[in-house]
This record gives sequence, structure tokens and C-alpha cells, in this order.
Amino acid sequence: MQKDNSTFLNKRRLRLRLLAMIDNPVILETHGGIGKLYAACYSTIGRGAVFEKDPQKADILAVQRPTWSVYRCDVVAGLRAGAAAHLPINFVDLDPYGEPWPVLDAFLAGDRQLPDRWALVVNDGLRQGLALHGGWSVKSLHGIVARFGSAYPYKNYTAVCRMLVEEKAGARGFRVANWVAYYCGHADHMTHFGAVLVRSSGILLAPGANKTFDQVAKEEVKPAKGQKTKEIRDGELVKHADQSKNPPRARQKKVAPDF
Ligand SMILES: C[S@@+](CC[C@H](N)C(=O)[O-])C[C@H]1O[C@@H](n2cnc3c(N)ncnc32)[C@H](O)[C@@H]1O
Repeated sequence: MQKDNSTFLNKRRLRLRLLAMIDNPVILETHGGIGKLYAACYSTIGRGAVFEKDPQKADILAVQRPTWSVYRCDVVAGLRAGAAAHLPINFVDLDPYGEPWPVLDAFLAGDRQLPDRWALVVNDGLRQGLALHGGWSVKSLHGIVARFGSAYPYKNYTAVCRMLVEEKAGARGFRVANWVAYYCGHADHMTHFGAVLVRSSGILLAPGANKTFDQVAKEEVKPAKGQKTKEIRDGELVKHADQSKNPPRARQKKVAPDF
């Protein structure tokens, strides 16, 4: 899978927008690398857990975050074994080179305690493989392919991401309250998406819960200059322009605000 560093500004911006919507964040970073995202987004947050399978990188992370739990292991095996369950995690950051789905499954598996409201932010590199091999090549997408065909995931991957998040989080009793997804990077092979999940029976009382993603973005984050970004919400292309000249406008919903 091709590594992509050109999207770092987008990665950072998406995380800052989501962080502004979560009170007292406790972070789970599933793929720590050498801690670039931590330095850009999480360095002021005292509680969290990070996973990294590369021993040398894990050592760097342990030095970087003395108050966090640092796991040097395969993240899927670690989460399935209950690692980081001692923390009240409410912000989950998945940044693998390839697909995130087995990691999300591992986080949601078992009886891990989850808060009533939490954020999920993902950097997904699966689309490159989908362009080459179609949806049948990916076990995580077999249910989608059976319903919509093998070509569907590549063409509609942001919609697929939303369906899978709704399905997986829904099985644990959560619904998507806010959602954003877009393609970026070389040949649009990267997909970034973010969601705020709330317990289906829960009440949205947290500060910021009544704000749309774009309201928060205007208050908290300046757009990266000169960047062209395709932004898709609810599977619909809503802009393809320089965000610094033309900030995205929120599509308001009566019941649950979207980003
Ligand atoms: C895209 S990089 C993460 C970048 C990082 N988020 C940052 O801020 O720089 C992916 C990292 O995940 C690690 N990794 C890949 N598969 C893993 C797994 N199954 N368990 C734990 N770490 C893994 C790799 O060693 C690599 O450092």
C-alpha cells in the first residue's frame, strides 16, 4: 500500500475539528508511527493510549508521552485482549497504511466500556487497492459487495465508510450524530472520515453537541491555504474548491446536526 504524506494538513485539520466537539478527550491512537499526529494534535492531552508494532517507533512514543499507555504490539490483537480498557476513551484515531475495519471491529468487540458520546477519526488507504482489484479482494467489504457489486466500493467509498460505521457502531448501540468524509492524496486514493457517535438512547447534552462541524471549524481552525479538496457529506459531493476562499457551508438537519 502506498504511503501518503501529502495529506497531513487535512489529517490534522480533521482531528482538530473533531477534538473541538469532544469534552475532556481521552485518546486512543491505534497506529502511533513516530508521533507526528500526536505532536500536531494531542500533545496537550494528558490521557490516552497508543499502539505501535514497530519496536523502535514504540520506544519513541513512550518517551514522547510519559502519561499515556504505550503498547508495543499488533493493535488488533491488543484491543481484542482488552488493552487500554482502563481508560475512558472517547476519541478514537485510526491511521493505518491500509484499511481500518479490523481495527474498528477490535475496538468495538467484547465488553469494553464506551462513553455515551465519542468521536472516531480515520485515515483509510484502502481505495488504492479497490481501484486495482475491486471490492471482492477485501474481506471487510464482502457484505457490501454482496449487496451492491464489486465495483461499488471504489466509486462510492465514502458512502461505504458511513454504512460500515453505522453498522458496526450500531451493533454496540450507537448512531452517527455527525459525519464528514472526503477523498484526498495521490489519485484520491486516501479517504478521511470523521464521526461523532452517540448512544442511541442517549441525550445530546455535551457542550458543543448542538454545533455543526462547520460552525466549530470556523471558530477553531483556519483552513489550509491553496488546497483543493473534494468534500463529501452523506455520500454527496458538496465542494471542490479552495477552502480558504470558499469555506464549506453546513447542510442543516432538523434533528441531528451534521458536520
Ligand atoms: C500511517 S503510520 C501512522 C502515522 C502516525 N499516526 C503519525 O502520527 O505519524 C502507520 C503506523 O502503523 C504501524 N502499524 C501498522 N500495522 C500495525 C498493527 N497491526 N499494529 C500496530 N501498529 C501497526 C506502522 O508501523 C506505522 O508506524
